[in-house]
Amino acid sequence: FTKLEQIELPAAFDAHVHLRDGEMSQLVTPTIRQGGVNQVYVMPNLVPPITTVQQCLAYRDRLRAIEPNVDYLMSLYLHESITPEVIREAKKAGITGVKSYPAGVTTNSSSGVLSYEPFYPVFAEMEAQNMILNLHGEVPSTPPLSSASSTSTPAVTILNAEPAFLPTLLSLHQKFPNLRIILEHCSTAAALAAVRACGPSVAGTITAHHLSLVVDDWAGDPFCFCKPVAKTPEDRDALLKAVVGSGGRFFLGTDSAPHDRGKKRGEDKVAAGVFTQGNAVAYVLDALEVGVKRGVFGEGEVTQEVLEGFFGGWGRRFYGVEEKRGERVVLRRGGAKVVDVLRKDGVGVEVVPFRRGESTWGVEW
Ligand code: NCD
Ligand code: DOR
Ligand code: ZN
Ligand code: ZN
Repeated sequence: FTKLEQIELPAAFDAHVHLRDGEMSQLVTPTIRQGGVNQVYVMPNLVPPITTVQQCLAYRDRLRAIEPNVDYLMSLYLHESITPEVIREAKKAGITGVKSYPAGVTTNSSSGVLSYEPFYPVFAEMEAQNMILNLHGEVPSTPPLSSASSTSTPAVTILNAEPAFLPTLLSLHQKFPNLRIILEHCSTAAALAAVRACGPSVAGTITAHHLSLVVDDWAGDPFCFCKPVAKTPEDRDALLKAVVGSGGRFFLGTDSAPHDRGKKRGEDKVAAGVFTQGNAVAYVLDALEVGVKRGVFGEGEVTQEVLEGFFGGWGRRFYGVEEKRGERVVLRRGGAKVVDVLRKDGVGVEVVPFRRGESTWGVEW
């Protein structure tokens, strides 16, 4: 693998993307194919969030108008206005799933979930309709003055927010064993173990950036800061191993999350999100290569089967979708340089991509 100059693959499926709306979507949606991807699962955390079937279909139309040569699978934002009836309507309209954000945890999540129990009737209907529940698997950090920060309950910070969520994943899976659940952007060895401890109705996505980043990388660099934050080297290596040892349980969901560069530097709090869309497949190949060089796994473990599975086959199988276009891409070593800033004439926002200015694999269609 580390000696290959080129790799041919089916065009990839990215099972977790933020394409935003308005000018930002004009800027980032055309980079999907540049990254080697022709099918995406689109997150609903717009402002306001996508909570109705009508909003969702109108959003898909806007994305199609920007880039028609991508297949957009769509999601709703879990919210008190989502009822079992909305789920039935969504299923009929071809909407794929529902994303749950815990309240206050990340970008535009102020209307997110406070407690899961009130949604059990919704989850039961999703199970009956064979829809997918996508979990942002973090619990909110302990507020500074709460009693929990001074008692036996360990306080939650962004470092243990994902492990603290895992009992919720297990209990949802127990209550709804046939509900397809995805633990999105797994960032810890514990999350991987929790997914593996569940039945085949539960899977996990892994981003490109969590395969290389650790805590030190985002402490001080806003362009490496995302939720969940990148954790320890041991966690990162567990994620690398989960790609080659996935057995179909883990697949690519980049969580590419563009923010205007002004939201990443300045007086306000740094917005969470790493932008990887334009080089999605390439970043993963680079991370796997580092994994081989550091001895995380052997050269021979990065097989064509693993690459085809992680980049598309396993995700499409879990989602029950196909790559209908029969498109293939050729990745060429050293064939691209990550742009310093993504910008476009007539668009008033600019995005600084992950690993700006560095050399990586190029994509040819
Ligand atoms: C940074 C910015 O946003 O101004 N530029 C960049 O990321 N290309 C400045 C910096 O990196 O120091
Ligand atoms: O870093 C993140 N950014 N994590 C998320 O879950 C949301 C995303 C965003 O929308 O910016
Ligand atoms: Zn998320
Ligand atoms: Zn996301």
